[in-house]
Amino acid sequence: MVTNLPNTFKDHHIVIELQDVSISFDDETILKKVNLQVKSGEIFIIIGPSGGGKTVLLKLMAGVFKPTEGHVYCEGEEWINLKTEKRRELAKHIGVQFQKNALFDSLTAEENIAFPLKEHTKLDDEEIQTRVKDCLLAVNLTNVGEKLPHDLSGGMRQRLSIARAIALNPEIIFYDDPTAGLDPINTDLMGDLILNLKQQNNTTVIIATHSMDLAYKLSSEHGRIAFVADQEVIITGTKKETQESKDPRVQQFINGRLDGPLTF
Ligand SMILES: Nc1ncnc2c1ncn2[C@@H]1O[C@H](COP(=O)(O)OP(=O)(O)OP(=O)(O)O)[C@@H](O)[C@H]1O
Ligand SMILES: [Mg+2]
Repeated sequence: MVTNLPNTFKDHHIVIELQDVSISFDDETILKKVNLQVKSGEIFIIIGPSGGGKTVLLKLMAGVFKPTEGHVYCEGEEWINLKTEKRRELAKHIGVQFQKNALFDSLTAEENIAFPLKEHTKLDDEEIQTRVKDCLLAVNLTNVGEKLPHDLSGGMRQRLSIARAIALNPEIIFYDDPTAGLDPINTDLMGDLILNLKQQNNTTVIIATHSMDLAYKLSSEHGRIAFVADQEVIITGTKKETQESKDPRVQQFINGRLDGPLTF
């Protein structure tokens, strides 16, 4: 674990908070008046139709996007108020696996994982190598350390991007569509991996996904499901609560029906 945690990480129960958050791009409103809280050790699962705003919500929470209106807090600090130095410090405690996995194409698998360690820590080469190996092992990727991302399968690249996201032992991990392009078995394995990584460090997990199987699996313990559509975020709760939701949009989405209030 990272030892030099800011005090806020020990004292506050709420890790992420959005207050009346709206965001627009070129006058198009994507999310309107969103209020939510994510608590320490929780798994917060964002579901909803393509283009509905899952990635935008995730990036707001991670401080990548600024809200057009409202406030986004991470560990009690409002992202927008943080000076570069503090922002960097907070970012060290956050791991992000981006939707397009954003690996460095010209760096090997090992070099990709070593990158944040070189950037943010004072570890020497040997310590970095040890940490890189641990991360590859954690995601079940061994013997590919020397390979370039384009020589790996889609699933392996997803796992590599997770290995890079966990390199700094973050307290909070964001996953954006980690099972994109994976078959059902590998989707299930990815769910196990995310849960294992979460349990090892009691990480707070925020994840956007299309896969209801993954959403249900992750929501069984410490998990809440949030449905994003029509500029709104509807927190449905556990698997059971989601399945019992009276909102016809939620019902349409989770049952994969073409007919209903959502248009595709
Ligand atoms: N940087 C940006 N600039 C302008 N518009 C954006 C930007 N990022 C997202 N959008 C718009 O916001 C809307 C929501 O996009 P978002 O990527 O959050 O959807 P999503 O729910 O993640 O979809 P998917 O399931 O396909 O990943 C889309 O209309 C998209 O075009
Ligand atoms: Mg997305």
